[in-house]
Amino acid sequence: MRRWVFIVLLVLVMATPLHADFRDLFQRQFIDKPWGGAPIVREGVCVDCHTSKIMNPDYLKIPQEWKMSIHYKNKVSCHDCHGGDPNDAAVSCGTPHSGFIGTPKYREVPELCGRCHVGILKNYLTSGHGKALKTTGKGPNCVTCHGAHNTQKASIDIINDVRCTKCHSYERARIMKQALFSTEKKISELDSIMTSMRKSGALVEDLEKRLFRTTAEFRTIFHTVDVNLVKAKTDEYLNKLGLIEKDLLSLVNEYKFRRNFSAFLLVLFTALGIITYIRQKF
Ligand code: HEC
Ligand code: HEC
Ligand code: HEC
Ligand code: HEC
Ligand code: HEC
Repeated sequence: MRRWVFIVLLVLVMATPLHADFRDLFQRQFIDKPWGGAPIVREGVCVDCHTSKIMNPDYLKIPQEWKMSIHYKNKVSCHDCHGGDPNDAAVSCGTPHSGFIGTPKYREVPELCGRCHVGILKNYLTSGHGKALKTTGKGPNCVTCHGAHNTQKASIDIINDVRCTKCHSYERARIMKQALFSTEKKISELDSIMTSMRKSGALVEDLEKRLFRTTAEFRTIFHTVDVNLVKAKTDEYLNKLGLIEKDLLSLVNEYKFRRNFSAFLLVLFTALGIITYIRQKF
């Protein structure tokens, strides 16, 4: 019964005219800015040919998956992982002198991804997972947990009882997930407040960069799969995030002087609170 009261409340809050006015105002002010556009990716001949009729049908879904991925959004293209020349169809695929790597072997995947994700590779290689991969070939590689072409934003939801029970009991994974939880919760709270503020035209870029860096640093630690290390580092990272939160809140206060802004934030925080409440209930 109570959950319905909350859902009705949520709908009312989202539909309030005050909210609409506020969005209108900022949309008029910011809608035509150049950074509003979609990303432009330099795709080259790899994608042209790999989506064409001559392609092995088994491989056709690869470019589709890639277009939904976080790598596509960040302009990481086929040749960034596989090598080869994206401008020359004649030599791009399969010819050694064009720097073509082709499909990496299972054991070689970490080094391929680690060319860009340097800190993560380092921790992974020292982990039980990395050592098992190198010695027996039985450890999970990056693709086991993130996929190769449909890679999405990372979260602790990657740790689940389908993926983590392929090789050992879920117990270890569960303890790890619990250890990550409080820090991840704080990260996602700050992230959703910053996203809403940015969408409303507030200048939060510096804070977003700080949060991105701190998150990236923290998330390398998981890759040691060392629960005690994660626990030992938790206070340190909660402190770092606390400093970012403090600056975020003072920015919020600054924007309160703007017309309707404080009212908007009230609505925002209420909605966030209700969403959290509902999520816990379901
Ligand atoms: C982020 C790195 C990355 C990007 C970007 C990427 N790939 Fe891959 N690709 C891999 C890895 C790693 C493998 C091997 C693991 C696997 O088979 O899942 C692979 C495997 C493949 C395979 C062999 C699949 C099989 O079943 O044998 C093909 C074909 C391929 N990629 C084509 C592409 C094309 C075309 C693009 C661009 C649309 C692309 N890849 C973009 C990392 C990448
Ligand atoms: C003119 C067409 C064409 C172009 C251009 C092309 N490919 Fe391919 N590629 C193919 C075909 C056809 C296959 C499948 C061969 C098979 O059936 O095994 C393939 C297979 C692959 C594979 C998996 C097989 C292997 O050798 O590891 C990868 C990875 C790959 N291409 C990546 C690329 C990248 C990266 C580029 C751009 C630099 C590219 N391709 C450009 C036609 C092309
Ligand atoms: C050419 C550089 C490059 C390579 C190679 C590469 N990535 Fe990435 N990756 C990026 C960039 C850039 C981003 C977006 C910025 C970010 O979030 O770190 C990204 C984002 C990610 C994310 C999401 C991070 C987040 O914010 O939640 C994951 C997961 C990921 N990559 C995994 C992989 C895996 C697995 C491989 C190998 C199959 C790989 N990457 C290879 C450059 C690369
Ligand atoms: C492909 C097989 C495989 C998958 C999938 C896998 N693991 Fe592991 N895991 C291993 C191996 C091998 C070891 C190291 C040998 C051992 O301790 O049994 C290990 C060890 C661990 C350890 C203990 C590390 C230590 O130093 O004590 C943790 C924690 C762990 N895994 C968590 C996870 C989580 C979380 C997932 C899912 C996201 C996962 N594993 C998925 C193979 C796997
Ligand atoms: C056993 C599963 C597993 C393996 C193997 C694994 N990852 Fe992860 N990865 C995760 C999980 C879980 C997270 C989220 C951790 C967290 O929330 O603290 C993550 C987070 C990330 C992120 C996001 C960092 C950020 O800034 O948001 C990147 C990038 C990434 N992994 C890349 C890699 C690369 C590269 C490899 C191989 C060297 C790899 N991962 C191996 C499970 C895995």
